[in-house]
Amino acid sequence: MDLFKTYKLWPIEPVKGLGCRVWDSKGIEYLDLYGGHAVISVGHCHPHYVKALTEQAGKLGFYSNAVENSLQTTLAAKLGEMCGYPDYNLFLVNSGAEANENAMKLASFVTGRSKILACGKAFHGRTSGAVAVTDNPKIQAPFNRTGNVEFIPLNDTAALEAKLATKEFAAVIIEGIQGVAGIWEPTAEFLAAARAACDATGSLLIMDEVQSGYGRTGRFYAHQACGVKADIISMAKGMGNGFPIGGIIINPSIAATYGMLGTTFGGNHLACTAAIAVLDIMKAENLMQNAAEQGKFLMESLKGNKAVKQLRGRGLMIGIELKDGYETLRDRLLFEKHIFTGGAGASVIRLLPPLCITAAECGQFVASFNELTK
Ligand SMILES: Cc1ncc(COP(=O)(O)O)c(C=O)c1O
Repeated sequence: MDLFKTYKLWPIEPVKGLGCRVWDSKGIEYLDLYGGHAVISVGHCHPHYVKALTEQAGKLGFYSNAVENSLQTTLAAKLGEMCGYPDYNLFLVNSGAEANENAMKLASFVTGRSKILACGKAFHGRTSGAVAVTDNPKIQAPFNRTGNVEFIPLNDTAALEAKLATKEFAAVIIEGIQGVAGIWEPTAEFLAAARAACDATGSLLIMDEVQSGYGRTGRFYAHQACGVKADIISMAKGMGNGFPIGGIIINPSIAATYGMLGTTFGGNHLACTAAIAVLDIMKAENLMQNAAEQGKFLMESLKGNKAVKQLRGRGLMIGIELKDGYETLRDRLLFEKHIFTGGAGASVIRLLPPLCITAAECGQFVASFNELTK
């Protein structure tokens, strides 16, 4: 059997990692400013994380959601304490797309409405519902175009208010910071208007923090910098530091009924162990603060570089919009300087490093970036 070739692969196979570094099968060391696409939060192979997972694997790897699982309640308590939504309820799944699917389904159940409002250039995942609210027809099949989704430009408050005023929408879904689109932030005014319009019209505000959450921007969720509270928040990526886990947190005013949501693998013992270890490490090592500080340092250091058209983002979610396309530079960083970075759009280098990145590692990136763009 061969693989279904739907990915464009770099000819590199990472086989080992530690902190912000990975090594490939030839023994070459790489600095990781990509984090496997914002997934590695507390660093590759953190000893506490490895120990916790190894111990749990030797005890019990899985049992179904039909029985009690105190790892889930421990995770919910720790998450509630750290994320600033202590009174919300947690539903666990396995990925970001699945988190958004459940967020939208729940909003539809609660409101009895079938439509969802989303933002231009948004990316919310590739499963049917998530891709339907993703503003990219190229990755939607005819099956995904249900007619239940409408888009408004990000930060167009008037358009948002006009759509929600129809009272047809179960929810509006907004990324904490648009990642795939190239690091575009919703303004505080737009989020405040979304909150107010949802309250006035009976829609729910869903914040997709799959990429921008989990401390990456220096706040637990990016939207918290705008002082707005969401009804449902989706998360995944950094939550398990590579172990697949996602979830939604839900306003306590939304009551669960039996069978409303469900999953086989969501919240399994290994996934919860990984997520608990992530929160414990984030807290012990003050990684949210580190994300804010190193992000600031990267932004300051890249200012004034002549190849850069605009710097966008917060904390360790940074978009470097270049005057030219990004691919050549990203490949040169990878193959000549052995630094992983991401891309977005046509001309944006995306930095999504582990939150434990050091000032020296940021400095190494900046020196390489400057050298290749001088
Ligand atoms: C904002 C956002 N939402 C959802 C997803 C989908 O997550 P997953 O690939 O885990 O399904 C992504 C993935 O990049 C994302 O960036």
